[in-house]
Amino acid sequence: MNQVDYLRISLIDRCNFRCQYCMPEGAELDYILQQELLTNPEILTLLKEVFIPLGFQKFRLTGGEPLLRPGVVDLVKDIAALPQTQDMSMTTNGFFLGKMAQDLYDAGLRRLNISLDSLNPEKFDKITGNRGRSRWQQTWEGIQRAHQVGFDPLKLNVAVIPGVNDSEVLDLAALTLERHWHVRFIEFMPIGNAELFGDRAWVPSEELRQRIRDQWGLMESQVRGNGPADVFQIPGAKGTLGFISQMSECFCDRCNRMRLSADGWLRPCLLNEAGQMDLKTSLREGVEPAQLREQVRQLLLIKPEINFKERDSGTETGKYARTMSRIGG
Ligand code: GTP
Ligand code: 5AD
Ligand code: SF4
Repeated sequence: MNQVDYLRISLIDRCNFRCQYCMPEGAELDYILQQELLTNPEILTLLKEVFIPLGFQKFRLTGGEPLLRPGVVDLVKDIAALPQTQDMSMTTNGFFLGKMAQDLYDAGLRRLNISLDSLNPEKFDKITGNRGRSRWQQTWEGIQRAHQVGFDPLKLNVAVIPGVNDSEVLDLAALTLERHWHVRFIEFMPIGNAELFGDRAWVPSEELRQRIRDQWGLMESQVRGNGPADVFQIPGAKGTLGFISQMSECFCDRCNRMRLSADGWLRPCLLNEAGQMDLKTSLREGVEPAQLREQVRQLLLIKPEINFKERDSGTETGKYARTMSRIGG
């Protein structure tokens, strides 16, 4: 059985962007109330008493936008200080990195994955639902700042949507020629807001690879990720290209992760709701962490049956009660 040692911890469901595919209209009406969020001490208790003893060693902080969470830098410091933490990273939209990258680095964070769906400011604002002042420039500066501060690897995530940003694939791939960055193309998943983009809302990764191959050539990279990305490289490029192909391939058999929502629900699989456990309520009701640990151990045993394997059912809208912004990607 595959070792499950990677926990994605969503810190908050709010976001300052409104990417249509992630946060559908009206999502803000349903935000998790402040008092329902796991506190920093609760997160640390769960890590120390439940997850770490079960072998979890890799932690990713996600959102919504994790940098909107008050106390995020302190939490990073505390998780980095745990002797069992082998890897800690964050997935962010990058907007606040201009002012926060240094503090995050000083707190012990070394890895960032930043969403960047377009290099064109107008298109970027359209995809991210930003009205009024353009947000592209500040996001781009946030990425540059993270690079200057020393974040390495620095991964840029592109959710590829046909007819929206797939024409930019070569421009985005070109970012890796001179920079030691990792650009990853993600097959769009029909979660939460699929009807917006129609039935075939994704471009198979192989099609993107072919376009890149025609332009520059493409080889498999020696670099291996922690997760679902297949890693390639343009010959001679400084950075790499990752392809996350959950629609055209099934990587569930090598799934190494679980997700903890900002309000304390443990979710064994991104793409279905089976087996979820409300850890926060149990903790607040005084259930002993050792008992929670046993329950999570049992959940780990049945995770392979929960793992999402039926690609086609992904197009049933409404199947995933939580939006991506709430699950944390
Ligand atoms: P590292 O490899 O540790 O850098 O991270 P990652 O690629 O797992 O994390 P990131 O938050 O950057 O995830 C990027 C995208 O990969 C997510 O938005 C999802 O689209 C996809 N993804 C990540 N984990 C899973 C997973 O367990 N299942 C599926 N189906 N997709 C996933
Ligand atoms: N399909 C694929 N990727 C998505 N993301 C958010 N929603 C989707 C979706 N429906 C990506 C974002 C971000 C990461 C956390 O998840 O682009 O990089
Ligand atoms: Fe793991 Fe579910 Fe993602 Fe498959 S779909 S890789 S089982 S989280």
